[in-house]
Amino acid sequence: MSLLQDKIVLVTGASRGIGAATVKCCLESGATVLANCRTAAGFQQLRDSFEDGDTARLHWLHYDVVDSDAVKQQFRQIQSEFGRLDGLVNNAGIMVEQAIAMTAKKDMNNLFNINVSAVYEHIQLAARLMTRNRQGSIVNVGSIVAQQGAKGQSAYAMSKASLAGLTLSAAKELGAVGIRINTVSPGFVETDLTAHYPSDKKQALLAQIPLNRFATAGDVAKSIRFLLSEDAGYITGQDIGVNGALTLP
Ligand SMILES: NC(=O)c1ccc[n+]([C@@H]2O[C@H](COP(=O)([O-])OP(=O)(O)OC[C@H]3O[C@@H](n4cnc5c(N)ncnc54)[C@H](OP(=O)(O)O)[C@@H]3O)[C@@H](O)[C@H]2O)c1
Repeated sequence: MSLLQDKIVLVTGASRGIGAATVKCCLESGATVLANCRTAAGFQQLRDSFEDGDTARLHWLHYDVVDSDAVKQQFRQIQSEFGRLDGLVNNAGIMVEQAIAMTAKKDMNNLFNINVSAVYEHIQLAARLMTRNRQGSIVNVGSIVAQQGAKGQSAYAMSKASLAGLTLSAAKELGAVGIRINTVSPGFVETDLTAHYPSDKKQALLAQIPLNRFATAGDVAKSIRFLLSEDAGYITGQDIGVNGALTLP
């Protein structure tokens, strides 16, 4: 039996990068995947990356994660169409790279709305659905910068660090109703989010990674899949680093 056979899993920010890789992993493992993409082009891009036969269990959830009314409507739709939710992956995220002195309030508000407030709202709504079946697994996508910091990424690091506290508290609160919640914290992953990094900066970073390569989106997706599955049935409140040992002293 496949790892996520018959599970219903919602992945936010599924159009590309880690989200798209997570959709692929979950589909391959037998899940029905509710892929949140905010544009038709984004969902088309995701869909085009699969053979036709592989997409029977792939469903598009069309909304922006900061649009609270749309999010609530989608959860009502999940309840009426599927009757339950087994997994939630809070992946959608943006990065703001600005020196502290230069960070505009509107950029910080936008960052927090996407990286933090939307995650909280998805957990609230998912927990209500999952509680009915007294089981469920939620995975938040954090970042190595929450533990290590990074010059020019203070606002982004603050947003990801807040997920760490949320994961710990939610694990304590939701464990009683059978809901597990964990964070996966990637190091440097080659996606659109990091495509602007200058090659000298990348080389310097690579030299610090004991595994001597950057993570792929697939590396992160496989860790997320594990945490969604029953194989991780006694793991909650944890932060799994997917960083090639970049965090080791
Ligand atoms: N790449 C890394 O090195 C790295 C390291 C640590 C953590 N992370 C985290 O991993 C997650 C995924 O990053 P990635 O590298 O895969 O980034 P990416 O390639 O830039 O993809 C970001 C995804 O988030 C979606 N998104 C952004 N804002 C959204 C919104 N308001 N509503 C719905 N979807 C939204 C994007 O959709 P559109 O296509 O519509 O823009 C896209 O699907 C993020 O939370 C990021 O912080 C990444």
